[in-house]
Amino acid sequence: MPDAIHFYEPRSGHGLPHDPFNAIVGPRPIGWISSRSQAGGLNLAPYSFFNAFNYTPPIVGFASIGYKDTLRNIEETGEFVWNLATRALAEAMNQTCAAVPPEVSEFDLAGLTPAPSRLVSVPRVQESPVSFECRRTQIVQLQGADGIQVPTWLVLGEVVAVHIARHLLRDGIYDTAAAGHILRGGGSADYFTVGPEQLFRMRRPA
Ligand SMILES: Cc1cc2nc3c(=O)[nH]c(=O)nc-3n(C[C@H](O)[C@H](O)[C@H](O)COP(=O)(O)O)c2cc1C
Repeated sequence: MPDAIHFYEPRSGHGLPHDPFNAIVGPRPIGWISSRSQAGGLNLAPYSFFNAFNYTPPIVGFASIGYKDTLRNIEETGEFVWNLATRALAEAMNQTCAAVPPEVSEFDLAGLTPAPSRLVSVPRVQESPVSFECRRTQIVQLQGADGIQVPTWLVLGEVVAVHIARHLLRDGIYDTAAAGHILRGGGSADYFTVGPEQLFRMRRPA
């Protein structure tokens, strides 16, 4: 009988048709990040190696695997905006991952509208129901356990302003299921949505 566990050491390869790593650490929220170059060019791109890391102050972060336009813009200006990717915006979000030259705006490419932010100079996506205006706090180049740096940068930013479409506030509570969040799964094309069917409640032990 074959071994019931598939074991591998990532350094030597996973031996599977597709790397299971991001299917296991998933589904992940998507950091749909707008930024602006020093020259003023607008940029918008999805980053699913994204999450929240602190409450007070609220801090979000994403990993740029390779030195990309979004990272360069945030290094230059110190600002970015996170926009919620929803099921209604999924195809537009996907279009914004196109590898286009910095002078081409993914807003135009995907037919999205840049709306002015309040505290930062980077616009938010008007069509998105939730946006966080962020100021860069740290950019950390990652390294392996051997101490050797890899070409991946963790970009962290403080959320300094929040926009929420009022219809998503039910009695003042943000309704995650109603917003139609999309999450990135694994493989080349898997995504998930969140609806009321997935909700269950569990209180912490007293
Ligand atoms: C759903 C989704 C998630 C992605 N997540 C990441 C990620 O976490 N890190 C990354 O470097 N690229 C990620 N990409 C690829 C980038 O979006 C792509 O390289 C894009 O062209 C980068 O744009 P920029 O150079 O304008 O910053 C993702 C693409 C998609 C569609």
